[in-house]
Amino acid sequence: MASSLIFLTLLLFAVISAVSSCPPSERAALLAFKASLTESYLGIFKTWSGFNCCENWYGVSCNPTSYHVTDLNLRGESQDPIFEKLHRSGYITGNISPAICNLTSLSTLVVADWKAISGEIPPCLTSLSSLRILDLAGNKIAGDIPATIGNLRSLAVLNLADNQISGEIPASIINLAGLMHLDLSNNKLYGELPSNFGKLTMLSRVLLSGNQLAGSIPKSVRNMNRLADLDLSLNRITGSIPAELGRMKVLSTLKLDGNSMSGQIPDALLSNKGMGILNLSRNGFSGTIPDVFGAESYFMVLDLSFNNFSGRIPGSLSASKFMGHLDLSYNHLCGTIPIGTPFDHLDAASFSNNDCLCGNPLKAC
Ligand SMILES: *[C@@H]1O[C@H](CO)[C@@H](O)[C@H](O)[C@H]1NC(C)=O
Ligand SMILES: *[C@@H]1O[C@H](CO)[C@@H](O)[C@H](O)[C@H]1NC(C)=O
Ligand SMILES: *[C@@H]1O[C@H](CO)[C@@H](O)[C@H](O)[C@H]1NC(C)=O
Repeated sequence: MASSLIFLTLLLFAVISAVSSCPPSERAALLAFKASLTESYLGIFKTWSGFNCCENWYGVSCNPTSYHVTDLNLRGESQDPIFEKLHRSGYITGNISPAICNLTSLSTLVVADWKAISGEIPPCLTSLSSLRILDLAGNKIAGDIPATIGNLRSLAVLNLADNQISGEIPASIINLAGLMHLDLSNNKLYGELPSNFGKLTMLSRVLLSGNQLAGSIPKSVRNMNRLADLDLSLNRITGSIPAELGRMKVLSTLKLDGNSMSGQIPDALLSNKGMGILNLSRNGFSGTIPDVFGAESYFMVLDLSFNNFSGRIPGSLSASKFMGHLDLSYNHLCGTIPIGTPFDHLDAASFSNNDCLCGNPLKAC
């Protein structure tokens, strides 16, 4: 009787501990991931010991009922007490082991801002069908974006910014139907944006600055109804601004500076009352600046410098509600600088190096 009670207790204990800690395969995968990295300052991986990887392993979270690992969240810049205490940000060398792909229930993978993680993105990552957030920004990761990236059907956030990733943006990216935030800034990507890029209708932020992207802006962007922030600055984009961009409902930041674009500014782009930051500096845009500003124009930044604009400064600019930073320098503008509120606080640098501008803050006409 007593022995069978002990047996039952032991059995119960075995059953409970079997389902209340992480699967051994996932523990092994995390340990293999740890083994390919070196973090010598904070000691975060010292917490990765013991049988249950769902308990007190820094950055690891599990599903509360299935105990599968769902989140791996390791950020090198963080408010976490570990960082505060040591007054430093994180630094990790090594690379991301493909063993990570054995975490089959992973929904969040953040291994960001560690400065020195190198190697490539393991292509097997694209088999993690539950992945919603993939953030490997701020490392030294090289190689291509896996061609099968489009398999990640649950992906909402893809951030690979500030690495050394090269190659083209894979065509399969247009299959990421739920993608909301895409940041591939400051890498070595080349080639063109896929022409059907506009199929990504959930996207609200597209940040591709600081690459070597060429070709023109695909007209299909007109379908991206939620696009609020488009940054293609410092690339090799050519062609003109699609007029459709001016009619986008929520677009408020458009940075196309530092490319080789040409043509005129579509009127709708400047009269769009939601537009707040527009930088077209350092391109080959020409023609006159459309005279379409009004009481609802509210620009934090309107930078048209280093282009080939000619004609006069539009008089309607002085009707605008707010003009924080206006730069019209290095163009071929001529005539009198309008008088009015937005111009009161601007200095000569905003108008310098044009053909024949005059009036305050430049010399009198
Ligand atoms: C990952 O899974 C594969 C196949 O199931 C297995 O061969 C491999 O050893 C696993 N790797 C780790 C580190 O768990
Ligand atoms: C606009 O872009 C240019 C060129 O990239 C940059 O130098 C400038 O600082 C930007 N303007 C503003 C106001 O951010
Ligand atoms: C600037 O515009 C003029 C005509 O307005 C044109 O002749 C010239 O080639 C243009 N320059 C550039 C760099 O686009």
